[in-house]
Amino acid sequence: MREALNIDEIKEGLKTKYVGEKIHYIEETTSTNDEAKKMAETGEADGTIIISEYQTSGRGRMLRNWETRAYESIALSIIVRPDISVSEVPTITPVLALSIVEGLKELDNIDVSIKWPNDIFLGGRKLGGILTEVSTSADRSGFIVIGMGLNIEQDSFGDELDLIATSIKKATGKTFSREMIISNILNRFECNLDKFLKHGLSCFSGKLKEYSCIIGKDIIVISGLEMVEGFALDIDESGNLLLRTEDGRIKKIIYGEVSIKLKELLKG
Ligand code: BTN
Repeated sequence: MREALNIDEIKEGLKTKYVGEKIHYIEETTSTNDEAKKMAETGEADGTIIISEYQTSGRGRMLRNWETRAYESIALSIIVRPDISVSEVPTITPVLALSIVEGLKELDNIDVSIKWPNDIFLGGRKLGGILTEVSTSADRSGFIVIGMGLNIEQDSFGDELDLIATSIKKATGKTFSREMIISNILNRFECNLDKFLKHGLSCFSGKLKEYSCIIGKDIIVISGLEMVEGFALDIDESGNLLLRTEDGRIKKIIYGEVSIKLKELLKG
């Protein structure tokens, strides 16, 4: 029998000043992002965390569903109230992505990577994802809700999904404390967020490139109605993907869905 999250244990592992100072644990909800938005609207503080074991309407990007298996996953949202413009909001996603990678590497050198813009990958399969949502007042962001879903202890996702999804246990054969994973990630997140607010995303350029599983590869991007093929060159300081297309031009991609070309996957 798998156990419910122990919030005191998460708190014991935190070295943060404000992230996780308050943690709301809700056994079952529609979506932790929904709960976080409701709480933020009524004045809940910067850095507050909402965690749930089971989401009945968990969401991903592009209106996709996000399944959260009770006691085997992490579904968590963070309320942040940074003084940044609405246009800068998407740059928060890579800050959390980087924090997830660093937190998992610190735990046991787990070889996770980032598939731009919001996917966390392990062993060529999706381990988790990030959904950033914003509420605006005038042109400044009122608050941001940044949600993260991670697969931790699932043994299987069913035949079809097993080809594209993974969990930490499935990929490494090991079981880790979900509490420790959460504390590690939140510790990294506060530190990275403070750095980001002082210096911008450019101070993470090297790391974002190092931990990317698409940079240096031939990829296909679907961005809106457009499909573009090219070589993934870099991620710029606003978090955009720079793609060298087949005619040699550099194209800036602001949002999209990336797939790595088959020949790259066959290289291993
Ligand atoms: C994606 O892969 O497109 C993003 C998935 C994000 C899932 C998390 S789980 C916690 C939070 N609540 C949600 O409804 N979604 C995010």
